[in-house]
Amino acid sequence: MPETQFLERILFSEEQLATRVHELGRQISADYRGKKPLFVGILRGCVLFYADLIKNISVDCTLDFMCLSSYSGTGSTGQVRTMLDLRESIQGRHVIIVEDIVDTGLTLDYLMNHLKDRGAASIEICCLLDKPANRKVNVTPKYVGFSIENEFVIGYGLDYNELYRNLPYIGVFKKQ
Ligand code: IMP
Repeated sequence: MPETQFLERILFSEEQLATRVHELGRQISADYRGKKPLFVGILRGCVLFYADLIKNISVDCTLDFMCLSSYSGTGSTGQVRTMLDLRESIQGRHVIIVEDIVDTGLTLDYLMNHLKDRGAASIEICCLLDKPANRKVNVTPKYVGFSIENEFVIGYGLDYNELYRNLPYIGVFKKQ
């Protein structure tokens, strides 16, 4: 088990996460029947959520990934960069962006601008967590696992300085 002295409290247990991810998978599957969606995971925070989500998708789909970077410690740098771009064309595809958490919205705003001229049939956002209180730009995810307060969280893919992604639950980070 990872060291957890940096954990203030558990916010969502493994069971709560599994239940909600299952619901999201069912909802997306119903909405995308016959559309063969492309799930674009935003590395690295999405990995656990993404893997669990696609196991709950019951329609044909394909998978791709991007890696963006904007965070350092517990604060956004505001500067978003593409570290890894898509391998597949999104021309004519129904794209679902899978993100761990939407905070200021700057990352997804950058991404939507980056993808908008590539001819997708549709682009929607699915995020596990949403922190609407901290929004700086107008980004509206269609599928949201949980809305949370403006607290820094770790686990289930979310990190603090690259640590704690492997926690199977989500907890509030304890500031030292
Ligand atoms: P935004 O650009 O401010 O919306 O931030 C999006 C990215 O910041 C997410 O994909 C995460 O990688 C990171 N992030 C935002 N809030 C948290 C948090 O509470 N814990 C860990 N990472 C976070």
